[in-house]
Amino acid sequence: MHRYETLAHTMAEEIRSGSIPVGARMPSLRHVIAQHGVSQATATRAYYLLEEWGLVRAQERSGYYVAPGAGVTAGQTVGTAVERTLLASAGKVDISDLVFSVLDAAREPDIVPLGSAFPSPQLFPLERLAKSLATASRNLNPWSTVVDLPPGNEALRQQIALRYMGMGIAQPMDEIVVTNGALEALNLCLMAVTRPGDCVAVESPGFYAALQAIERLDLRAVPIRVDPVTGLDLDALAAALERHPIRACWFMTNFQNPTGVTLSVEKKRALVDLLARHGVPLIEDDVYGELHFESDYPLPALAFDTHGLVMHCSSFSKTLAPGYRIGWTAAGRYAQKVQRLKLMSTLSASIPVQAGMADYLQHGSYDRHLRKVRAALRAQLGEMERAIRRWLPRGVRYARPGGGYFVWLELPEAIDAMALHRLAIASGVSLAPGPIFSPEHGFRNCIRLNFGHPWSETIEAAMRTLGKLLADPAVRVPAT
Ligand SMILES: Cc1ncc(COP(=O)(O)O)c(C=O)c1O
Repeated sequence: MHRYETLAHTMAEEIRSGSIPVGARMPSLRHVIAQHGVSQATATRAYYLLEEWGLVRAQERSGYYVAPGAGVTAGQTVGTAVERTLLASAGKVDISDLVFSVLDAAREPDIVPLGSAFPSPQLFPLERLAKSLATASRNLNPWSTVVDLPPGNEALRQQIALRYMGMGIAQPMDEIVVTNGALEALNLCLMAVTRPGDCVAVESPGFYAALQAIERLDLRAVPIRVDPVTGLDLDALAAALERHPIRACWFMTNFQNPTGVTLSVEKKRALVDLLARHGVPLIEDDVYGELHFESDYPLPALAFDTHGLVMHCSSFSKTLAPGYRIGWTAAGRYAQKVQRLKLMSTLSASIPVQAGMADYLQHGSYDRHLRKVRAALRAQLGEMERAIRRWLPRGVRYARPGGGYFVWLELPEAIDAMALHRLAIASGVSLAPGPIFSPEHGFRNCIRLNFGHPWSETIEAAMRTLGKLLADPAVRVPAT
């Protein structure tokens, strides 16, 4: 994508999200040049493109204004012709510097981890796990170094298959490949079905690691809008499938990161059908599925797949043991390719840890532990909602997630989440700013907060700090 196209997408996102309302004057060329560090030609061409898309109108000697009908507010389904035109563009991704700058700033242990991707380690039965690890290591068959190579430890894969069975999914064990966490599973699946230059549909906003994988493998991202209430825009996806040679989709159907939204069963079924008609594989990232607040695990898209096109990826990182790095994919018709890629890249997940995890799943009361974690997260969400009402301004909007430990906030239009992030870090609080979740660095006035930590005075104080910072003129987008 050319620089002016990237810039146009960024501004388009601001218009679509309502950050720049219909009828408002767009930033002057001088302002755009100064803010984005681009040349006059780039800024002008970006405006021409926005005009072409019907998003802005030029007014002689006065500048550009947001065109009527161009704005879309959060919570509304996004499916207008203009929207589809925007979302169906494929581009190279340049996100890693931004993501690392945000994540690095938040790594200090005394920063309050509202921006963290992890839940609190206090939620996990670490001692019981250590017992299983010790037992399994003591009893380890010396030949397991060879036997447990990919697809992985048989007892562990059996336990994973049993969990699928509990959902009513008959998952053949030989299609399950054990990996180093879900992230490796997702990356291997992506490598199994793409070659450099291919187009991959991703969510916008979506998990930044998907964008980083696309950047690393030299693929092109086709962002598909995710509505915080209704989820992935299937009309936009259908249009993108017509327009681009999309080779794979990387989506979350349950408790999506960052919005927390879960697709309805009807939408999951429709998604699987749509992709089957196009013969396009779905890499389904389902790392939060077990953390549901209602009684049942919401069925993944995998449950509706009859063509072996869904590669379902998950792990124990969010539910049990982040540091053990045990994940897997149920990769359908691609299982063997994924298995070979695993052998060619990191050879195998740690053998003793696989055995330890299998022992825990057999004897460690995983389901009882999960019930406790779900109850804790549900209570923490209650605290988070109360703190949002108490400390943050009225204009803040969010949709309550049905599971997981993230809440996605849409802040008042004038707020710049990156500026808020910088000031928050300086005050000892992290948050995940919207721009790290989209290839266009959009969602400028959105943030993701983590409620995966037991509520404490420190977290309460951090929420109060955020409230104060939101009133600081330094976090506002400069007036044009
Ligand atoms: C949506 C999503 N997918 C995958 C992962 C990676 O999971 P794992 O730690 O098992 O590699 C994360 C971790 O932050 C995540 O948020």
